[in-house]
Amino acid sequence: MLLTDKFGRSIHDLRISITDRCNYRCVYCRTGTNGAAYAELPFADYLRMARILVSLGITKIRLTGGEPLLRSGIVDFVRDLAKLRTVHGEKPEIALTTNGHLLAEIAQVLKDAGLDRVTVSMDAVDPARFARITRVPNGYDSVLAGIRASRCAGLDPVKVNCVLLRGFNEDQIIPFGMFAREEGVVVRFIEFMPLEEDRLWTPGVVVTLDEILARMSEYRPLAEIEHGRSETARRYRFADGVGEFGIIAPVSHPFCGHCSRIRITSDGKLRTCLFSTWDHDLHELMRRGAPDEKLVEFIVKTVASKEERHHIGEPGFVPASRTMVHIGG
Ligand code: GTP
Ligand code: 5AD
Ligand code: SF4
Repeated sequence: MLLTDKFGRSIHDLRISITDRCNYRCVYCRTGTNGAAYAELPFADYLRMARILVSLGITKIRLTGGEPLLRSGIVDFVRDLAKLRTVHGEKPEIALTTNGHLLAEIAQVLKDAGLDRVTVSMDAVDPARFARITRVPNGYDSVLAGIRASRCAGLDPVKVNCVLLRGFNEDQIIPFGMFAREEGVVVRFIEFMPLEEDRLWTPGVVVTLDEILARMSEYRPLAEIEHGRSETARRYRFADGVGEFGIIAPVSHPFCGHCSRIRITSDGKLRTCLFSTWDHDLHELMRRGAPDEKLVEFIVKTVASKEERHHIGEPGFVPASRTMVHIGG
């Protein structure tokens, strides 16, 4: 049996948050104070969930957080995930989203354990601006070292996520274009979504796809590259063939119609949408001793109920029941 929802979307991407702790406090995500963490589970519990989900058609697993590299044991977890086999008999693709602060020293070890790809969040290519957004002094050099170590380790492609916020980093578009070309990474600009702890989202703060494209075209001619149906990012390359970037535009160009994603939160809840107003307690079932068949039944039913789309910016928008740091990006 393969996972599909009631709108006929096939669900094959799983995102597991392994912690909701974070060593950064990015303005578009967390409050300036240390917010409470919900919970973390033993890796064996995430592994059991992943094994069952892979048997139901998941082919790609992304580890997120909070900051996933804060958890010791992640290397063994990646090694265990790499032993799973998809319904096509292949190793699932394993990716990691991280703020990159602790990445330099562990990139090669993760690659050797079976990690395929890494995405590093980096919202400015200027150390002072970077510190203002992350609210951590002196992080920039560590993150840059993490990106370079990932490339050296053969994690491919290395992607860099940049959430653009008017008033903070909208002037970083062209510098990131240069960065993508010089460093050989795929930079993805992300439209800011209302998922932050501080409730500072307004439509005016969002830097839109149209605006990003207009600005980048002033730098160099661009060509659009075809992207996969369920991919979050629209992809572009510079016309001279050097460098690629992407734009993730959930606000101005929603991609819900082709969504293939399901999430497990660090406390073991299944989330069918970033903007869900409730979660489904898979871990509670496990804790009560449910056998695999019961978990399969629960997962299949939950996935079928996946929301059609988000309602960002619409009148009556109901905020998600969790903020991004407690969902996993
Ligand atoms: P790739 O396989 O590398 O394309 O990964 P990805 O784009 O799925 O993963 P990544 O963690 O880099 O996600 C990038 C950003 O896209 C996230 O941080 C979110 O801001 C946004 N995003 C990812 N999935 C969804 C989704 O299902 N809905 C919405 N609205 N935004 C999403
Ligand atoms: N809107 C858009 N993207 C966000 N991220 C975190 N919070 C938001 C938000 N409110 C992104 C981070 C990271 C990924 C996990 O989610 O930049 O790359
Ligand atoms: Fe999927 Fe929900 Fe994101 Fe839309 S908002 S793409 S349905 S997770």
